[in-house]
Amino acid sequence: MSDVIHYAARARVWVLDTPSTSYALHLTPGGRLVNLHWGERISPADAAHLAEQLGDDWVGGAETAFDGIEEYPVEGGVRYREPALSVRFADRTRGVEPRFSGAETVDSGTTLRLCFEDEHYPLRCTLNYRVLPDCDVVERWVDLVHTGDAADGGIEVLVAASATWTAPFLTGYRMSHLHGLWYGESRLDRAEVAPGSALVITSRTGATGHFANPWFAVDDGTALEDSGRVWSGALAWSGSWRIAAHRSPNGRLQVAGGLGHEGVQVGVLTPERPFTTPVFAGLHSARGFGGASEQWHAYVAGHVLPRPGYVRPVLFNSWEATGFGIDEENQLRLAETASRLGAELFVVDDGWFRGRTGDHAGLGDWTPDPGRFPRGLRPVVDRVHELGMGFGLWVEPEMVNPDSDLYRAHPDWVYHFPHRERGESRHQLVLNLARPDVAEWVHAQVDGLVREHRVDYLKWDMNRPFSEVGWPAENHPDRVWVDHVRNLYAILDRLRREHPGVAFETCSGGGGRLDLGMLARSDVVWASDNTDGLDRLAIQHGFTQVYPPRVMLGWVTDDHLNRGGTPLRWRFHVAMAGVLGIGGDVAAWDEERLAEAARHIAQYKAVRPVVQQGLLHRLEAPGTGDHRTAVQYVSADRRESVVLAWLHARQFRSAKPPLRLRGLESGAVYELVGTGTTWSGDLLMNHGIALPLTGDFDSRLLHFVRR
Ligand code: DGJ
Repeated sequence: MSDVIHYAARARVWVLDTPSTSYALHLTPGGRLVNLHWGERISPADAAHLAEQLGDDWVGGAETAFDGIEEYPVEGGVRYREPALSVRFADRTRGVEPRFSGAETVDSGTTLRLCFEDEHYPLRCTLNYRVLPDCDVVERWVDLVHTGDAADGGIEVLVAASATWTAPFLTGYRMSHLHGLWYGESRLDRAEVAPGSALVITSRTGATGHFANPWFAVDDGTALEDSGRVWSGALAWSGSWRIAAHRSPNGRLQVAGGLGHEGVQVGVLTPERPFTTPVFAGLHSARGFGGASEQWHAYVAGHVLPRPGYVRPVLFNSWEATGFGIDEENQLRLAETASRLGAELFVVDDGWFRGRTGDHAGLGDWTPDPGRFPRGLRPVVDRVHELGMGFGLWVEPEMVNPDSDLYRAHPDWVYHFPHRERGESRHQLVLNLARPDVAEWVHAQVDGLVREHRVDYLKWDMNRPFSEVGWPAENHPDRVWVDHVRNLYAILDRLRREHPGVAFETCSGGGGRLDLGMLARSDVVWASDNTDGLDRLAIQHGFTQVYPPRVMLGWVTDDHLNRGGTPLRWRFHVAMAGVLGIGGDVAAWDEERLAEAARHIAQYKAVRPVVQQGLLHRLEAPGTGDHRTAVQYVSADRRESVVLAWLHARQFRSAKPPLRLRGLESGAVYELVGTGTTWSGDLLMNHGIALPLTGDFDSRLLHFVRR
């Protein structure tokens, strides 16, 4: 069918080739689509051979020949596994009887489309597979179309997964996933999935959420950072979602995932209203968890981020320094100091708009507060620009405080049920962004702010999940779970088109909106409100499993977790592992501290191209390596490498082994910048380098340049 998508007609086998993997499908004689292979490369002839060995289609009791391998198991017929698709037709018939109706390749032969029609009802379901030329990711999504007319009535879509991923037959299955809470996001956990059991990760909040992240990795329990076979998936969706790994009693493991959470109907199909699921991307790596992350980072940079090459500026953010006590005078003072330090962007966080003296009021009234900014934001914006910095502004446009002019004028604009309380969280309610008029209003507000205040950077926050998700005037109010996110995407896409020079930070009460859908329209991610260095190392370890350092924003703040004062260098080195930001009250720092900070910022700028654009190796994970954590970045041409290493706590008489680096050029000689010493790449990789880390919270940055 194309160079990367092959079809063996007699065996009814499709093979999708990525640079180092194959993904093979087969249509059985009985018309079921099954997965034959996902892993290292095999030929179409090999795949046909596998198909021959499948044996007969059979059904016995609650078991079938396809348990654990059916590519997109619908609800309907004799099937008892987690359904990828569940629908209800107008006459209340539930379930689908799919009949294969054709295959085609589109997008210059990179996308395979497999079409199925229901035997009786007007429903077409198309499975899409997109193969990328430069990484091992296969993108999957599904189109659902009502092929009848209005007289057939609507088709309720109860579940519509983007994909069900079939892991190969392994002796055991372990699932890696990220879980968390506010102040403790993206914690990596690995758990065995036993036969007959399931592991479900989900968000029911209307946003990606803090509790789990829509990403998984599966291995047989033996993979390590740099070895072993790993199968991984990530969903491009920023609303409620569900990913369920089911291990059939026969031992096979499948992972289904898509938008919506249990109990919510995701949409109603009409002839005018088709439904397309978000993309669920998947990849296989034969080079361990590190190899999988390397592929994810390449995919995000090459196919997701709108501006991957944008050099993320060193920013200052006002939130921890001035909180709600913000005013023109203190922002000007902070801006002067931030610019002296070398900051390139100054972000005015929450508290700048009308009535916002605390979190109880103001959301929705997006004009500068006359009490604290009597001359508007203009003096701050002008001075920031004069100082050569970009101007950034915080907004939370999907929200409203009941104590606001917006809410007083439009109490019906929030999610609500007529006979229920409007449950507040952080004293705020969620605007019904599924309403076209509200979405239009939100766009107009933000667009106006960007134009009026010459904004270079927008921090888009979302501080509370949905509740009482009603829309009294709407027949199918459940659709807001999907349409809120779609309209959010449309607003962000439109703003990006209208203001191509503006960068966007995604934030949701810390790291609650971190996913491929949001990354497709963001430049930077706020990873957590927790800026403590030690906690951040764990958060960053989880974050980089799938998302690249070039979007991972960290701030150096005043030490506030009562660790007895961690060294400024330690805090800088932690934040320098991604996009460096400063969040401390720099106006109160003494000259010595300011001079040290300026040195770290200058050093970050010198290594930034390698940190933001290079390849990440997680050398030692937090919690292992005898209280030492280390990461390394290598430029694409292997000319430069940066190592960041942190010693958490000193132990008497406990020597640390040399740190072995990765990815350097064998046979090349590297200079350790600032020392005049040289090291061979082989020595650094095969023997390692001893690090002079001695005290509690000690850290080092090593910068190697090939001679
Ligand atoms: C939550 C964010 O994570 C913080 O950085 C800050 O912007 C606050 N919201 C402001 O309300």
